[in-house]
Amino acid sequence: MRQTKIDDFLELEKENKKLEKLVAIEVEKNRQKDKIMFQQNKMAAMGEMLNNIAHQWRQPLMELSSLFIPIQAKLEINNQLSKTQLLDSIERLNSITKYMSNTIDDFRNFFVNDKEKVRFKLSDQINSSMGILSVGLKKNDIMLDIIIKKNPTLYACKNEYTQVLINIINNAKDVLIHRQILKPKIIITLSEDEEFAILSVDDNAGGIKINNIEDIFKPFFTHEKKDGTGVGLFMSKLIIENNMNGKLEVSNTEKGASFKIKVPKKLA
Ligand SMILES: Nc1ncnc2c1ncn2[C@@H]1O[C@H](COP(=O)(O)OP(=O)(O)O)[C@@H](O)[C@H]1O
Ligand SMILES: [Mg+2]
Repeated sequence: MRQTKIDDFLELEKENKKLEKLVAIEVEKNRQKDKIMFQQNKMAAMGEMLNNIAHQWRQPLMELSSLFIPIQAKLEINNQLSKTQLLDSIERLNSITKYMSNTIDDFRNFFVNDKEKVRFKLSDQINSSMGILSVGLKKNDIMLDIIIKKNPTLYACKNEYTQVLINIINNAKDVLIHRQILKPKIIITLSEDEEFAILSVDDNAGGIKINNIEDIFKPFFTHEKKDGTGVGLFMSKLIIENNMNGKLEVSNTEKGASFKIKVPKKLA
């Protein structure tokens, strides 16, 4: 009797081990599947993006290729060309190429493979972004206030975070300039709650003036802009919500728009 119990026990142990192995194999299989799916997803997204870029570029390319035809014709026929006409064409050329370059930048930054996660203080992030942004802000007399209520640590991809921050601040800058706001101002506030490190960007440009405010996160949604691509906020939302498990929120305040980047805090 006793012996059988031990035998049973050993048998059970054996079965357990077998099961554990099977589970481990299945888990690994699933992980591989996830990986493949993630890759496929990314490839599909990339394909879609390339299509979109091609689509987005067709029009400006056509315009570029015909931009100088009248000038060429004039020169060939009578050698006469007004300075204004040439300057107009050059200005148009600059605007078109700027638009094309914006499109590519917006897309590229999302697909670069530099996705290493690191630990960093929220305030570090402001410093590195300001290096890129401060000239443009100063040039347009835009005041920047930084309020540090809390300075939590995150564990995330720094490049992507910077990218989002730059997108949001650049948008605020664009609107402040476009609407010719008196005393233009951007306020960045660092804080935290139980779960998230929170960075808010507020401006005094009058807010987002469309019916459904969430539309700004749709791909290619652009409004009131000459060179807008409509990619920036779409990418930003993907980065924060899909890659970082966070939230990107928007609302209108009395003075303007308010964006909140919420990323889970690094567990100590
Ligand atoms: N701070 C803001 N104030 C008002 N409108 C904004 C603000 N930020 C973004 N928007 C609106 O959201 C739109 C989408 O932004 P985005 O995705 O970055 O594309 P783009 O800047 O190329 O137009 C902008 O065209 C603009 O109309
Ligand atoms: Mg933008």
